[in-house]
Amino acid sequence: MLPLPAEVYLSDASHAADQKLIADHWTCIGRVEDVPLPGAWIRGPGRLIVVRGEDLELRAMFDVCRHRASTIVDGESGRVARLVCPYHGWSYDLSGRGKECDGLVRAHVTTWGGFVFVSRRAAPLPAPHFITADLAMLRAGHRARWEVSANWKLLVENFQESHHFPSVHPGLERHTPFARSSSIVTGGPWLGGRMELLAETVSRDGQRHGRPLIAEPGVVHDALLFPTSLFSVQPDYVLSYRLSPLAPDRTRVDFSILFHPAVAHLDHPDVVEFWQKTNDEDRAICERQMEGLREGVWTPLCYAESEDGMIAFDDMIRRAYS
Ligand code: FES
Ligand SMILES: [Fe+2]
Repeated sequence: MLPLPAEVYLSDASHAADQKLIADHWTCIGRVEDVPLPGAWIRGPGRLIVVRGEDLELRAMFDVCRHRASTIVDGESGRVARLVCPYHGWSYDLSGRGKECDGLVRAHVTTWGGFVFVSRRAAPLPAPHFITADLAMLRAGHRARWEVSANWKLLVENFQESHHFPSVHPGLERHTPFARSSSIVTGGPWLGGRMELLAETVSRDGQRHGRPLIAEPGVVHDALLFPTSLFSVQPDYVLSYRLSPLAPDRTRVDFSILFHPAVAHLDHPDVVEFWQKTNDEDRAICERQMEGLREGVWTPLCYAESEDGMIAFDDMIRRAYS
């Protein structure tokens, strides 16, 4: 089998297909604690929002007014008493019901491990069998957002293989060497990776600095929820990445690091700075790859033997497109 053709990373047609594919699958859009109270809402892909109702239930709906389609709320999150359209004032309660109509168009929301997931239409979300840690009690201690000048699928493929650790991430290679990592290939929607950990944890000096264990020591488990939600479970913290394609060659990354609740409020520069550097290395290498693809001379040749996790992702893309 050959890698995906260059045009799936470059064309507007693939970008449009990707937007649809993402809307039809589950996307992790935040944590349960991001919507703690009635009226609190967070945004998913496009105009999809998740709102906490008066009855404390989470509901997914589109903030597109049923009257003449104006969008209703601005930004990425907020808290409202009702959803009031700024055009002619139609208003909707926290479950999306309106007086003049049967209400806002609904979508699906579910939770796993304290994360909130949305989808326009989706089968029930199974839990990834290879993650056994209790992630629901964790709290976000660090959040960051950046943009990468590369197609989002290059970022996922990069996440799916550790073949690049020795050359791109010498710091990471020291703690979780490429030669001691393997992929966990399933029929989807979760794909995984397992890395042997040679230090206490992945941090600047490989130490936990008193952070309580939240998962198995001696190992790191990665999990990709197809297509755009990435997680990495370390012994004492969890990384989560959400990829939002803005254009064929531009991707927004929302990143957070979750810790045990007893230490989530503290600064963890040994972890935060380590991942800032590592994420930056991935950003730079994916941008180089995108620049190479744009040149228009590359054609698919082969996968490396260790790239089975990436092959599994590319396969899911092929199936979703066909
Ligand atoms: S478009 Fe919303 S009230 Fe008219
Ligand atoms: Fe990387």
